[in-house]
Amino acid sequence: MSRKALIAANWKMYKTPAEAQAFLDAFLPLVAGNSRDEIALFPSPVLLATVIPACKGSNVAVGCQNIHFAEEGAYTGETSIAQLKAVGGTHTLIGHSERRQYFAETDEIVNKKLHAALKAGIVPVVCVGEVLAEREAGKTAEVLKTQVAGAFAGVSAEIAAPIVLAYEPVWAIGTGKTATPEMADEAHKTIRAEVARLLGDGIAASMRILYGGSVKPDNVSSLMAQPEIDGALVGGASLKADSFAAIVKY
Ligand code: PGA
Repeated sequence: MSRKALIAANWKMYKTPAEAQAFLDAFLPLVAGNSRDEIALFPSPVLLATVIPACKGSNVAVGCQNIHFAEEGAYTGETSIAQLKAVGGTHTLIGHSERRQYFAETDEIVNKKLHAALKAGIVPVVCVGEVLAEREAGKTAEVLKTQVAGAFAGVSAEIAAPIVLAYEPVWAIGTGKTATPEMADEAHKTIRAEVARLLGDGIAASMRILYGGSVKPDNVSSLMAQPEIDGALVGGASLKADSFAAIVKY
């Protein structure tokens, strides 16, 4: 089954509105007409009002790095899905390892956010991945299966089609250490098998699984050559227009 790849930029807590605008002025012409894969940007919420209008009518989708699962309420510092939708956002990351590590996000919270995104028609990109100690202890498969099963609790095959997964080994994020294409391929197979167990072979065969963790212009081609890798979630190398455009055009 052919899956349309998604190449996504996670800008994390970088860029001012002026810097985001300068990025887009350079980036959008570089990728105009590039329809082979989908492209998405995940800027900070404060940048959405700059980035979304600038990307309107282009081939670039925009989303949040995090959303709250409640519709609205007294949740200081959080962003609701309704707020994201109201400014034209279409995607959201869920359960990025930095959210899990620094903001105590658990599989249970990830699951609530996934349900909220699916209900609202926002494309969820659910991130999973093992830390170094887990890999070294031979627990990678177990950790990935637990995270996928936790995220997907109560999700049926009928509503699962929009879900995108991202495998991001935590030891590869921002470290310059990339999983080898073979390591990523093996992890993706584990994840896809778990999706098949939970939701059936059809959903598993069509679900996109991105790879993230030190993806760069010079390693993206070998990663994307793996049949199990359906796109990339890019942090550091997505901050410069020429670098992210080179990744999009691998
Ligand atoms: P990196 O980040 O490309 O800087 O390793 C990836 C991510 O955290 O999504």
